Amino acid sequence: MSRASAVRSVARVSTERSKSPQARLFVALDLPDELREAIVAWGRRELRDPALRVVAPESLHVTLAFLGYLPERKIERLAAIVHGLEATAPTLQLEDPVAKPSLRQARLFALPAIAPAASPLQREIERKLVAERVYEPEKRPSWPHITVARVRSAGRGSRRQAVVEKPPGALPKRLLEPALCVRVTLYRSVLQPQGSRYTPLAQVELSRDGRQ
Ligand code: 2AM
Repeated sequence: MSRASAVRSVARVSTERSKSPQARLFVALDLPDELREAIVAWGRRELRDPALRVVAPESLHVTLAFLGYLPERKIERLAAIVHGLEATAPTLQLEDPVAKPSLRQARLFALPAIAPAASPLQREIERKLVAERVYEPEKRPSWPHITVARVRSAGRGSRRQAVVEKPPGALPKRLLEPALCVRVTLYRSVLQPQGSRYTPLAQVELSRDGRQ
């Protein structure tokens, strides 16, 4: 190792040591099993293009607040916030798949969710996370969605995405019906080459607003 690179790597190690351990965190609405299974069945038919990396069934969710990297020691307080949520369970109504940012340059395919009933829940989460000083609400309007597939890169080391020849088709009728979602989870996301792995850290079951 040259002296310059040795000095650089020592500098990197010391900044890493000076930081407290960090975790990449987000709060999400989980899907009821029937909805998850119906999405997986649809995906088996419609997400077959080789350019697509299909999201694992257990990783399907609607993000309510993306927190990014935070010190691990904050996790306990965040778990308490999740456990203390008071909003009632929202209904989720899905729409046909869309490509983001565009079909020609798709990076991901997602099912947008019309979730008017999710707004009180989202507002409660945002308010509590802001009060805890761990979150700044996004400036762009929130876009509730379920990412169902990500597009592979065009080749080793390429920053472009592969071309998706056969984008997914419409949802069957039963996936367009409103579904009640009762569980909210605080997740840790670990980035891996084959796709992020999400570990649940804290969960709450929301009340069903007289529907129980
Ligand atoms: P996505 O599926 O549309 O990429 C974990 O990364 C979850 O947080 C995903 O649902 C991801 O949405 C969402 N998310 C929201 N904002 C993000 C951001 N700025 N960076 C990474 N993930 C984000």
